[in-house]
Amino acid sequence: MADRFYICTAIDYTNSAPHIGHAYEKILADVLARYHRLKGDEVFYLTGVDQHGQKVQQSAEKQGVAPEQFVSEVTQKFVALWEKLDVRYDGWAATIEPRHKEGVQALLQRLFDEGQLYKATEGGYYSVRQEQFLTDKERGPDGEFGPEWGEVEFREEENYYFKLAQHKEWLLSLLDSRTDLVVPDFRQLELRNAVEKIAGDLCISRPKSRLSWGIELPFDRDYVTYVWFDALLNYITFAPGPYSSAAGTNLGEFHRWWPAIIVIGKDILIPAHGIYWMIMLHAVGFTDADMPRLLVHGWWNMSGAKISKSLGNVVDPLALADKYGNEALRYYVMSDIATGRDSDFSEERLIARYNGDLANSLGNLLNRALNMAHRYRGGVVRQAGGDSPLRAQAESAVAAYQRHMDGAQVHAALAAVIDFATSCNTYVEMTAPWKLAKDPERAETLDHVLYALAEALRVIAILIVPVLPKAAQEVLTQLNWKHDATLAAARWGGITDGHALGKPSPVFPRIEKSEATV
Ligand code: MSP
Repeated sequence: MADRFYICTAIDYTNSAPHIGHAYEKILADVLARYHRLKGDEVFYLTGVDQHGQKVQQSAEKQGVAPEQFVSEVTQKFVALWEKLDVRYDGWAATIEPRHKEGVQALLQRLFDEGQLYKATEGGYYSVRQEQFLTDKERGPDGEFGPEWGEVEFREEENYYFKLAQHKEWLLSLLDSRTDLVVPDFRQLELRNAVEKIAGDLCISRPKSRLSWGIELPFDRDYVTYVWFDALLNYITFAPGPYSSAAGTNLGEFHRWWPAIIVIGKDILIPAHGIYWMIMLHAVGFTDADMPRLLVHGWWNMSGAKISKSLGNVVDPLALADKYGNEALRYYVMSDIATGRDSDFSEERLIARYNGDLANSLGNLLNRALNMAHRYRGGVVRQAGGDSPLRAQAESAVAAYQRHMDGAQVHAALAAVIDFATSCNTYVEMTAPWKLAKDPERAETLDHVLYALAEALRVIAILIVPVLPKAAQEVLTQLNWKHDATLAAARWGGITDGHALGKPSPVFPRIEKSEATV
């Protein structure tokens, strides 16, 4: 039976250009969306950009441009990158859009009317240079705020607060009853520990005197909304089906899509998604069953260090896609990291994986199989000689692939596919079709082998559709297989007796080392 999947990613800050970490997350969600489509599920994939907040205001000021202009330029870079990387989304959440602003204000007004928000004065240490309040996290090992904060003064400020702490017990019980809420498991445990420590409420406003680039509070025009409170709401303001803040979640088309699956990095689970977002949804009437699932991925690092502009180690995904092709990049970031864990980015690994898995194992198999079929049989394959040993292997590859993809372990699913391609190459060596072709008495065996290879390639092509949509289509075209690629069609025996294969041409040309200026 077809299921329905509403897949969202974090929306990217538009204070600087996209890097490989942003690209990874959007490709991961795109692959999961494409996988579910392959299965016949209904999918809505939402991604977008987080355009408000202090950092954007500061970056725009530094460049001497209006924040609107600044965010529109950075947003264009994200849009261009997703197009280049074949990240195909159904909804685009850009938080400066009127639709979002209206939704955020309606929800704030509702929470205010229901007494979930209150005004209070709090004091704290404030960095004048960075224009932000500092917490103990910002103190150095000596207990002092470092020189990067400039002058630090004690300030009192009046703001609006969201009654977060009163929902602590509810959130604990939710985490105990929905043990699949956060993937991987250890992150759910981490979240539970953090929830135990919730002590205070959440400040959801910033006085316009120090931050103007945000959404005005509908009930007090002297304030704008704290950027996280604004950004998190994108998952409902841009969700499929209209959401009305007044009607809660009992809305036909809107409700159908929940719970959403939200794909985020490990840095924004606690407190943003795991605490604020869950409690915000609960406060506006979402049921426990509708609470989104959080798929928490790890980080791409550079030689163990964080990727950051200040360290000067930012990898530009657009340049990589230009150099090696977008599918080489998609394959690398999907195959060389276990979802949930960190990995080290390296251009050499990208080349090694591409050449090893795609050019050698898969590309080689495709070339050999098609060439031999043309040389010995004019490209026509025959169903002959009973069951193939590759059939059982194909079936177990499909089963492993499906199990891993259902668990969002894309690297393991790909490994199952490449292992199968490697076994097929071994099968070629063992059956030695070039010898069979010389012996007229073994004509049926040759037909049997050539059919199995074509069929194996067809199954493999279907399985790589989510990660390598273009290459998969090329392989299917070379096999002259004209039906829709669906997971159901990955069943052995799809190629009919007497089917004419197309001509081979390289789909995965090797990347020569000289091209790589690492
Ligand atoms: N704007 C917030 C998210 C708001 S969601 C309502 C934000 N933006 S971000 O641009 O800093 O990060 C966007 C996503 O990219 C996050 O999920 C983050 O974890 C992910 N990554 C940022 N750097 C990363 C790596 N180096 N590696 C993998 N993912 C990383 O946070």
